[in-house]
Amino acid sequence: MLNFDFYNPTQIVFGKDRIADLAKLVPAEARVLILVGGASAEKTGTLAEVRQALGTRQHETFSGIEPNPGFDTSMQAVQKVREGGFDFLLAVGGGSVIDAAKFIAAAVPFEGDAWDILLQGGRNIKAALPFGAVLTLPATGSEMNNGSVITRRDIGAKLPFRSRLLFPQFSVLDPTKTYTLPPQQLANGVVDAFVHTVEQYLTYPVNAPLQDRFAESLLQTLVDIGPRLLAAPEPDYDDRASLMWAATLALNGLIGAGVPQDWATHMMGHELTALHNIDHARTLAIVLPAMLNERRVQKRAKLLQYGERVWGIRSGNDEERITAAIDQTRDFFERMGIPTRLGAYGLGTEAIDAVIRQLEAHGMTQLGEHRDVTPAVSRRVLEAAL
Ligand code: NZQ
Ligand code: ZN
Repeated sequence: MLNFDFYNPTQIVFGKDRIADLAKLVPAEARVLILVGGASAEKTGTLAEVRQALGTRQHETFSGIEPNPGFDTSMQAVQKVREGGFDFLLAVGGGSVIDAAKFIAAAVPFEGDAWDILLQGGRNIKAALPFGAVLTLPATGSEMNNGSVITRRDIGAKLPFRSRLLFPQFSVLDPTKTYTLPPQQLANGVVDAFVHTVEQYLTYPVNAPLQDRFAESLLQTLVDIGPRLLAAPEPDYDDRASLMWAATLALNGLIGAGVPQDWATHMMGHELTALHNIDHARTLAIVLPAMLNERRVQKRAKLLQYGERVWGIRSGNDEERITAAIDQTRDFFERMGIPTRLGAYGLGTEAIDAVIRQLEAHGMTQLGEHRDVTPAVSRRVLEAAL
C-alpha cells in the first residue's frame, strides 16, 4: 500500500426528510446565498423546502448555474455575494451547482483575476467562504470532496481545481430528491460513479486488498442497481439510496487512499465536453472502453482481477478474459442507454485534432498512473472510440 493522507471533514446528513435539518446545520446568524441551477429545484419543491428550513435567516437565491458550470455565471454570483454581504453559500442541485459553489466560495476573497484559480489548479486559494449542499443528483461526489470543474465557453476550456478549504461543511443527501430525475441523468449518475471508481482501482496492484474490495463492492452495486433504476416503473427508495451513497463514496477520497490513480479518461472527457457540450458521464463512456483496451498491457493484472471479481469472467486465456472485461464494461454503459462511440454523438475523425490540441494547451500531456498517456496515446484512444 502507498503512503497517504486522508482528510474529509464533510458532515453527511442522509435520508428522507433531512432537508429540515438545515435549521440546525446552517449557522443561525448566517446571511445565506442559495445557489441553484435551472428550473429543477424550484419545480420539484426542493427550493421551497430549503427556504422553509432556513426560517428567519436572511437569504436570497442565485439561479441559472448551468450544467458544466460557467466561469462567467459563477463570477456574477461572486459579485452578488460581495455586494450583498453574504457569508454562507448553500448549493441546491447536482455536481454543477456544488462545483460552482466551491469556485464562488474561493473567488469571493480571492485577490486578482479569479481565472488564475483554475490555471493554478487551486494551489493559490488562501481563503474560502463556508458552504453546504443539498444534493439532488447523485453522480459526481462533489458533495463530499474538495474538487470542482469550471468551464470557460469562450475559449473551450474546462479545468479542474481543488483545495483543502473547499470541502462542503455538510451535505444533505435525501434519496427521494432523485425521484424527479429524468432517466438520462440517472444513467449519467451511475456511469460517472462507476468511472470514478475505475479510475482509482483499475491501475496496477500495490497490495491494497481493502481498497480493492471497497472499489469492487461499489462497482458491483452499480452494476446491480443501474439497469433496475432505469427499468423500475416507480422509484425504489433503497436503490436510490444505494446509488446516492455509492456515488458519494466513489469520490470522497476513501477508495483512492493508498493506491495509484489514473484520471486520464476524465481529463480527455472534460475536453470533449468543453468542445462539444456532451454530458460529462457520456464523455467517460466514450473514452473508457477504448482507454482500457489501449492500456491493456500496463493494466493487465487489474483488468484480470476486475473481470473476475466484478463480471465473473473465469474462462479463456488472459487476453480473452481482458477483452471480455472491456466488452462487459462497454455493454453495461450501452445498457444504461449511454452510447460509447463518438459517431453516436455526431463526431468523426475530424473532431480528434481539436481534442488533442486542447489537451496540449492544458498541459494534459502525461496522463494516467504511469504518466505515459501522451497526446499520441490519447489520439489512438479517440481513434479507437470512433
Ligand atoms: O439545472 P437544473 O434545472 O437544476 O437541472 C439539472 C441539470 O439540467 C438536472 N437536475 C439536477 N437534479 C435534478 C435535476 N432534474 C430533475 N430532478 C432533479 N432532482 O440535471 C441536469 C444535470 O445536472 P448537473 O449538476 O450538471 O449534473 P452532474 O451532477 O452530473 O454534474 C456534472 C458536473 O460535475 C463535474 C462535471 O465535469 C460536470 O461539470 N464533475 C465534478 C466532480 C467533482 N467536483 O468532484 C467530479 C466529476 O468527475 C465531474 O467532473
Ligand atoms: Zn466524473
